Amino acid sequence: MQKRSNFSSKLGFVLAASGSAVGLGNIWRFPYLAAQYGGGSFLLIYLILAVTFGFTLMVAEIAIGRKTGLSAIGAFKVLDKRFSFLGVLAALVPIIIFPYYSVIGGWVIKYFAVFLTGGVHTAAEDTYFNSFISGTFEPLGWFFLFIALTAIIVLCGVEKGIEKVSKVMMPILVLLTIFIAVYGLTLDGAMEGFVYYIKPHMSDISVKTVLAAMGQLFYSMSLAMGIMVTYGSYMKKENNLESSVRQIEVFDTGIAFLAGLMIIPAVFVFSGGDRSMLSSGPGLMFMTLPKVFDSMKLGGFIGCLFFLMVFFAALTSAISLMETIVSIFRDKFHWSRKGACLFVTALALVMGIPSSLGFGPLSFISWMGLTILDIMDFLSNSILMPIVAFFTCIFVGFIIKPKAIADEVKETNGKFKGEKLFTVMIKWVAPIFLILILVSSVANTFG
Ligand code: PHE
Repeated sequence: MQKRSNFSSKLGFVLAASGSAVGLGNIWRFPYLAAQYGGGSFLLIYLILAVTFGFTLMVAEIAIGRKTGLSAIGAFKVLDKRFSFLGVLAALVPIIIFPYYSVIGGWVIKYFAVFLTGGVHTAAEDTYFNSFISGTFEPLGWFFLFIALTAIIVLCGVEKGIEKVSKVMMPILVLLTIFIAVYGLTLDGAMEGFVYYIKPHMSDISVKTVLAAMGQLFYSMSLAMGIMVTYGSYMKKENNLESSVRQIEVFDTGIAFLAGLMIIPAVFVFSGGDRSMLSSGPGLMFMTLPKVFDSMKLGGFIGCLFFLMVFFAALTSAISLMETIVSIFRDKFHWSRKGACLFVTALALVMGIPSSLGFGPLSFISWMGLTILDIMDFLSNSILMPIVAFFTCIFVGFIIKPKAIADEVKETNGKFKGEKLFTVMIKWVAPIFLILILVSSVANTFG
């Protein structure tokens, strides 16, 4: 039996898990949703959901990992054979996400390189982004580079690779985010955007707001894809699980909030208050923001820092995806870390190529107007993740029982302050909401 690796300290665990949670979702998706769904009221709802729903699912996943010392497939199976399918489903999510996430990671490195070499004007041109992603070899090259960087870190192991890198990158990420946000707020006219972002617009609150916030939350916290189970399996019993989860939540939500501060006021200044500029997805990050940077003083420099920060965020998330897949193969087939890393790298390269080419040579392949990359995203985030989260709740709530998780949480000092909340959430509230999320995301896509 191989000895299981560990994070050396609680701080190491919290930073690595936060590294997973803080990613592209925090930086472009959160600000856009907040802008669309009523500013302050969205923030408020998101906050409430984070400390109830997010807390519950994250505690459950980390505890399952730490209790069994296994990644998702093994963990669910050991606890109850009938739920082996759940481990397999959970394992599928990172296998689908990792390749296309790395395609976008490649775009981020490319933009960092362009800004670093003084290309802010070029990047701001209307056709720049589309002509880049519709190429064949250039996007593939950046995608390969991103995967190679991720693989090298994962190859170095949990403590020497993941933990070390997280301990360096995460603090830098926080500093960069704060710096850029503060700079953005000093621009003339930024206050209007700031007020728009912070002030609650109660009339914008609806069931849709809540569902949008909920979907964002569990994507943002890297839930329902076996990541937190895997990272939990590397956590020592003497490290407090409950307070770790609280810290990860603060980290993830804090960065999302700051990303909004960074982006919304700056876009407001640029567009003269036209909030339709806050479009969703890659358009905001790769088309609108370069224009915003191009229009501001020191924009080339700020843009360079911005893409560096996004790169750190994306890389630490990709690491957690890859580590989760690697640990699944290692648990199952007892492969060496090196062998598993090589295999997963090759798998991700092969799987990611169609997503990359889907904007160029393979753009004739589409389904309901979605590109190959969008289809992968839809399958994993809108279909598989709510299903996995739902069954995780049923599994904990009714099969192994919330007490089994509570006992694991109490291993450190005998306490679990959120136990009552946890029990009610995991048995009743969360499963009901998850069904609603699933129905609404399917309806949104097909409706
Ligand atoms: N949590 C990450 C984010 O907010 C997204 C992510 C999803 C990361 C899946 C890893 C795996 O962007």
